[in-house]
Amino acid sequence: MASDLVAKSFESIETTYNAAFLADYEHLRGDLARLYQLAKNNQWDGNNYPTIDWSTKVDPEKRFFPEERAAIYGTKHWNKMTQKERDRFGHEYMAWTLSQFLHGEQGALLATCQIVDAVPNIDAKLYGATQVVDEARHVEVYDRYLHQNLEIVYPVNPELKSLLDQILTDSRWDMKYLGMQSLVEGLALAAFQMIRDTCEEPLIREITRMVMKDETRHVAFGVLSLQDYYTQLSESEVKERVEFIYEASRLMRDRLLGRDVYEKLGMDVDACVELELHNELQLQFRQILFAKIVPNVKKLGLLTPDLRKGFEDLGVLEYEHLPSSEEELYAPGGGLEDFAPGGNGEEAVQLAS
Ligand SMILES: [Fe+2]
Ligand SMILES: [Fe+2]
Repeated sequence: MASDLVAKSFESIETTYNAAFLADYEHLRGDLARLYQLAKNNQWDGNNYPTIDWSTKVDPEKRFFPEERAAIYGTKHWNKMTQKERDRFGHEYMAWTLSQFLHGEQGALLATCQIVDAVPNIDAKLYGATQVVDEARHVEVYDRYLHQNLEIVYPVNPELKSLLDQILTDSRWDMKYLGMQSLVEGLALAAFQMIRDTCEEPLIREITRMVMKDETRHVAFGVLSLQDYYTQLSESEVKERVEFIYEASRLMRDRLLGRDVYEKLGMDVDACVELELHNELQLQFRQILFAKIVPNVKKLGLLTPDLRKGFEDLGVLEYEHLPSSEEELYAPGGGLEDFAPGGNGEEAVQLAS
């Protein structure tokens, strides 16, 4: 094999799932066929002006967010830094955050390929194929921004990597959905929203706005695919899924911290991680990350008394009353509003069927 066609560094992950080759092409869920049509209509090219204007000047040492947002702001660790060191810190922290997006996107690319293989439903296979292209585009744009504009890429956070590994090695197709479409993408959507709405650098804001247009569909794909299937699960199967959600949520809330940045900059790592863990603003932000996950899990019928208690302990149960991603998609401006119960999307239904 020509060595220049193989990445210099990669890990082989052994997988265990079975591919489902369908004997019939019966359309099982009309909503998924409509989502497929919507996805085809909304493809975009991350390489093309004016969708993304890559000529935008980005100064990585100019702040991305107000300084008071940093977990160490106002502490002795912050006060002893020069302005130049603070600017460098902002640059490194942004590179760390976007690197986690990039690695998460690669995980989504691999997991979606597996879903296309494993799911026993033709509509889900076809829709899933559009998501594979979406995830490839997301890898492309974050990779480009990190290499071209920030010139720093951090390795994947160990907890995020272990969650991705768990999703990729599980043999059950629904666990791939639950882990990737509901948890990882739910978290990502909330984090993207923060970048889109509050970041002061316009290019990454625009990239993220475009990525989010796709991600809303992806999270809805999970809800639409699983909600009927999950009504058939046994009590022990529900329990297993609830434990997985709680454990993954706890790890993502408490362990997705910028340790690598403090280490690289020679700061007091343990003290800074501790500050980040307990900083009021950071805590609020990490809770907002669950604003998409909790309503979606509820929609899937998995908000059992045990998980309710778990979410309450994590301080995120209040999000249960927000609309699920599938409901957002049917709401005005969501893209499937014409198909909402009582809507008049007959023509498009025929198109999609
Ligand atoms: Fe993505
Ligand atoms: Fe996605």
